Amino acid sequence: MNIMLAEASRALAVAPPLAVLLELTHRCPLACPYCSNPLELASQREEMDTGGWLNVIDQAATMGVLQLHFSGGEPALRKDLVELLQRARERGLYSNLITSGIGIDEAKLDRMIEAGLDHVQLSLQDATRESADHIAGYKGSFDKKLRFAGWVRERELPLTLNAVVHRHNAGNVPRMIELALALGASRLEVAHTQYYGWGLVNRAALMPSREQLDAATAVVEEARVRLRGTLVIDYVTPDYYARRPKACMGGWAQKFLNISPRGDVLPCHAAETIPGMYFDNIRERPLLDIWQHGDAFERYRGTAWMPEPCQSCPKKEVDWGGCRCQALALSGAADTLDPVCEKSPDHARIRAAAELESANAAPPPFVYRRPPRSTNSVIGSGIASLSKSV
Ligand code: FES
Repeated sequence: MNIMLAEASRALAVAPPLAVLLELTHRCPLACPYCSNPLELASQREEMDTGGWLNVIDQAATMGVLQLHFSGGEPALRKDLVELLQRARERGLYSNLITSGIGIDEAKLDRMIEAGLDHVQLSLQDATRESADHIAGYKGSFDKKLRFAGWVRERELPLTLNAVVHRHNAGNVPRMIELALALGASRLEVAHTQYYGWGLVNRAALMPSREQLDAATAVVEEARVRLRGTLVIDYVTPDYYARRPKACMGGWAQKFLNISPRGDVLPCHAAETIPGMYFDNIRERPLLDIWQHGDAFERYRGTAWMPEPCQSCPKKEVDWGGCRCQALALSGAADTLDPVCEKSPDHARIRAAAELESANAAPPPFVYRRPPRSTNSVIGSGIASLSKSV
């Protein structure tokens, strides 16, 4: 086989991602303590310019991507959002806005819809005003979100609510479901907090008890049956009480990729925490080439990298080894077992940590996701003590 043919057959072996998440900015009016952005946030000055993002959209369309998620931070803080949505529409891509709803007035929403916006995903911190504002670290956020949701539905745009659940709001899952119905949402995602990045820093403040988890699960299961055909409820259970790991990102480098505000192309939102991994930048290498052959993407794609007992596990092509970032955060190495798996030597320790932290009647205050340098030392010492205690 000549070199060109070998290259072509190698390229064909990797199907394009279904969706690309564009993290347009890390700027955000909210300060949620479980934010999925990295601990070191990109400044506005570091963000890729409009031309760079248009180029990403063009490349994504050419390589066969179906959906673009416009995310952040708060993507509406980008002045070029309408232009980017328009390019997505021109290139035949389905566009989803993942937003706090803050800072978008009716006129801006109309411009976005006219440009081609297909779907809105709105974050929901809780079902009551006081608690939602407290969790978001933003007074008035709840009312603004409700108003925004109303505008979305008045325009008959499909709406999904994203609720991150933890010890402070798990008891309100029934009210979240009621709120989703009242707002006319077609989908509600009830996702227990993922404990990496900011979530890991705030783990002791957020960890629910086993009883809270079981109650929330029962509520969701009942509502799923009762509301079939009216409201779809997605449910993400907390890793710390699970016995099997989840297929994080649908499997590393299998279905999705993220692009950071600086233009770095990432297999997942927390991949930058993995030391020694090289991330290509979209301004320096074509997206298709990065997806197929980039170091970060090839590192954990498929099953060849897996240690035992993953290698012999019949579920290895179901969970794809779980979450690499969680393995790193809790077991100290990205290429070892995700400790959520009961076969991991660290599994009992994370279960014990969950039980210990959730039993604390006086959980620590939130470390809010805010960029000032003064919080970095707090975050650093928090992470260091966690990795010793897990
Ligand atoms: Fe990185 Fe799960 S968040 S693999």
